[in-house]
Amino acid sequence: MKKIEEFLRQLSFNIRRDRELDLNRRGFIASTLSLMGVFFVSATPLVALSKRKDAEAHESKLFIVNEKDLAVGDSVPFHYPDDNDPALLIRISEKEYRAYNIKCTHLTCPVYWEKDTGHLNCPCHNGFFSVEDGSVLAGPPPRPLPSIKLKFKNKKIYAVGISQAQH
Ligand code: FES
Repeated sequence: MKKIEEFLRQLSFNIRRDRELDLNRRGFIASTLSLMGVFFVSATPLVALSKRKDAEAHESKLFIVNEKDLAVGDSVPFHYPDDNDPALLIRISEKEYRAYNIKCTHLTCPVYWEKDTGHLNCPCHNGFFSVEDGSVLAGPPPRPLPSIKLKFKNKKIYAVGISQAQH
């Protein structure tokens, strides 16, 4: 008789223990999900703010040169959006200009403007880019040069943003 009582006590203990564990597991999952929800909701404005700051950094306005100081076919170097980003503004016709970040998309050698051929060249491994849109014409570069958006005001030229071309 004692053995049966002992067996039943153990059995009921196990049942309760299982339920307790089950409840604890459910409670844990519910708490975790709640915490994740709170974290997500509270972090969303911070992520949005951070993205906006990134966008603003890439859309700062920088004076490059006066139109009259850049002859057709010539180029002028500048840095944009910061000192680690070498760039080049090229006047390709009386009314057309192009500007690119000139870190080669292969291994970041500086790209230069070759007026005679009308191409942007990378001397490290003979990479060639189109001056029209920065696309790769030849060589190992895997991507076009990032294009710098320009704004013209009172015959002055400004860099106002970067667009990553998808070619
Ligand atoms: S670094 Fe420009 S082609 Fe290799």
